Amino acid sequence: MAKAAKAFFFVISLFFLLKGIESGYDDNTSKKLFVFGDSYADTGNLGRVLGRNARSWFEPYGMTFPKKPTGRYSDGRVLSDYVASFMQSKSPIPYKIRRYGPTLLPYGMNFAVSGSGIFDTGNFQSNLSTQIDHLQSQIDAGVYSNASIRSSTALVVVSGNDYGHFGEQDPNSWLHIHEFIRKLFAQFKVDLLRLQEIGVPKVMVTNLHPIECTPMQTRPSNYTLCSQNISRIAYEHNHAMNKLVLDLRRSNNSNTDFLILNVNKAFLSILHQVRGSTKMKYPLLPCCESSSEKTLCGSLDDKGQKLYSVCQQPEEHFYWDSLHPTQAGWAAAFEYLKPTIKRFL
Ligand SMILES: *[C@@H]1O[C@H](CO)[C@@H](O)[C@H](O)[C@H]1NC(C)=O
Ligand SMILES: *[C@@H]1O[C@H](CO)[C@@H](O)[C@H](O)[C@H]1NC(C)=O
Ligand SMILES: *[C@@H]1O[C@H](CO)[C@@H](O)[C@H](O)[C@H]1NC(C)=O
Ligand SMILES: *[C@@H]1O[C@H](CO)[C@@H](O)[C@H](O)[C@H]1NC(C)=O
Ligand SMILES: *[C@@H]1O[C@H](CO)[C@@H](O)[C@H](O)[C@H]1NC(C)=O
Ligand SMILES: *[C@@H]1O[C@H](CO)[C@@H](O)[C@H](O)[C@H]1NC(C)=O
Repeated sequence: MAKAAKAFFFVISLFFLLKGIESGYDDNTSKKLFVFGDSYADTGNLGRVLGRNARSWFEPYGMTFPKKPTGRYSDGRVLSDYVASFMQSKSPIPYKIRRYGPTLLPYGMNFAVSGSGIFDTGNFQSNLSTQIDHLQSQIDAGVYSNASIRSSTALVVVSGNDYGHFGEQDPNSWLHIHEFIRKLFAQFKVDLLRLQEIGVPKVMVTNLHPIECTPMQTRPSNYTLCSQNISRIAYEHNHAMNKLVLDLRRSNNSNTDFLILNVNKAFLSILHQVRGSTKMKYPLLPCCESSSEKTLCGSLDDKGQKLYSVCQQPEEHFYWDSLHPTQAGWAAAFEYLKPTIKRFL
């Protein structure tokens, strides 16, 4: 607990360091970024009331940057940090600690919560709709004016927690996956239309990464084979995503432009070592490996002994833990996404 509190204050002080002093928080000349989604984008919204279940607040998370845990599920930066940096902006402040960093408010806000989904995922995390409610409440409270919203960008990162939860809830999930995807995208559409109604002019949405290649799936083959039967989910999800975004682009009241960030292709180009992509020494082997399938990176036993091992050089690994890329992995994937984002912004 003491350790967690320390990390928390470290994050706060870090934000002040990053920002320096600047007056007036609703200055609409700053490029605001509003972030929604899960652990692929969360920079500190996960409640530490969850104790060690919020592993991102404990060692070895954050070991590369900033060399302390900050609530990011990585050894360092995550996708939202790279997007903000590309916009020549600071990483937006996590919603949860917004009161502690008023000078960061002109850069937008990060509402993403690790573990969340479009639907509820059973662990009390704010779903996507609730995260959008949080943006609306900031507007209603006058933190962001309509004018500043009109010059903002949104990043929506949905990385598959809905499927994990569905698989746990429904023993025949495999038979019902089409129907589930249909319902999921009906809700996704409602959520994205709300961002349009709020007046965000540019919305970037990630598609689903190759969930079949996460260390969680490749562990049975000693991190050599992506799980082909799972790859169907990503395929169908991304097909539905293309359709949805096409539909939204053609939509009736289109002051909002939508862009798909193809993280699926970005990840695969690195995992398959496609020519021109960043070379990673270990594309499938995670840096932080739990000692068994039943434990996780960051887990301790009753005596406080580590139930995981950490590699010496995280930058040689694409994956950090059983589900998340390293900072180097995100940097490499972002290289792939950059040209598309540049054209869009
Ligand atoms: C900022 O807001 C002011 C007043 O709300 C408006 O006059 C101005 O055009 C805005 N500037 C930009 C860059 O949007
Ligand atoms: C999102 O969470 C809110 C608050 O718990 C709940 O009322 C709403 O039904 C949820 N939405 C979806 C799509 O699951
Ligand atoms: C801001 O925009 C919303 C929706 O477009 C509108 O209902 C509201 O009145 C506007 N607020 C101000 C202060 O202009
Ligand atoms: C994975 O590696 C372990 C230890 O090196 C070995 O015992 C096991 O047979 C390997 N499994 C596969 C599927 O190759
Ligand atoms: C996917 O394949 C793995 C290994 O072949 C198997 O254990 C698992 O049950 C399969 N999952 C589904 C949903 O068919
Ligand atoms: C646009 O309008 C058409 C016809 O009214 C409707 O079918 C479609 O769903 C609308 N698109 C969006 C994105 O709201």
